Amino acid sequence: MEERLQKIISRAGIASRRAAEGLILAGRVTLDGQTVTELGVKVDPAAHEIAVDGVPIGAPERKVYFLFNKPRGCVSTAHDDRGRRTVLDYFRDVPERIYPVGRLDFDTQGLLLLTNDGTLMNGLLHPRYEVEKTYEADYDGDLTPEKQERLRRGIRLDDGMTAPAQLEILPTSNGRNRAALTIHEGRNRQVRRMFAAVGCDVRRLKRVRFAGLTLAGVKEGARRTLTSKEVAALYGLAGVKV
Ligand code: URA
Repeated sequence: MEERLQKIISRAGIASRRAAEGLILAGRVTLDGQTVTELGVKVDPAAHEIAVDGVPIGAPERKVYFLFNKPRGCVSTAHDDRGRRTVLDYFRDVPERIYPVGRLDFDTQGLLLLTNDGTLMNGLLHPRYEVEKTYEADYDGDLTPEKQERLRRGIRLDDGMTAPAQLEILPTSNGRNRAALTIHEGRNRQVRRMFAAVGCDVRRLKRVRFAGLTLAGVKEGARRTLTSKEVAALYGLAGVKV
């Protein structure tokens, strides 16, 4: 399929679309050995060799999608200045350049998606699509009916009111307090802060559901690839047209 040269270069991960245009205009891009300096050129990347500064760009990376059960004690950024373990340490065998879809705190465990599909990632994280996430929280303190109602209706945090949420008090056999909170926002440490705002301290936090996916069959520290049906469903949720 023919595509604009700048699009092919940016998709190969070499530069943004705008920067790729700059590379072309600067005469740094060749097509089958010939310098191209016009922006309108369309080519089939499978049939021609495109090079930037003389280095051929590879074929676009295939898209990969993983559901990971993140343990506590690792960060979900690609790098950590404090040298702590990152979720990518669990994906050293994966050659594609994948990134986590959103974040879970260092001490939060549970469902995290990782992919190299930037379009899907942006859609899933965009507030407009209100993608639901469910967290199971073990907490200290008394979550009275009145406090439960405040969590459900929306509560004032220092960065504003939270959107309405679903809250379910869960039974436990060990005498602990446990609740499941479903939200569609993704503010920093939001669940912990919501509980703290009603005087409850979250002891353990686990994301058990994200965009309709669950951790079923995936042990802590393990992962599975998403099926094409699941990817298609995520595309639908994230407002991305295929
Ligand atoms: N809310 C939190 O408090 N922490 C997380 O990691 C995710 C949601």
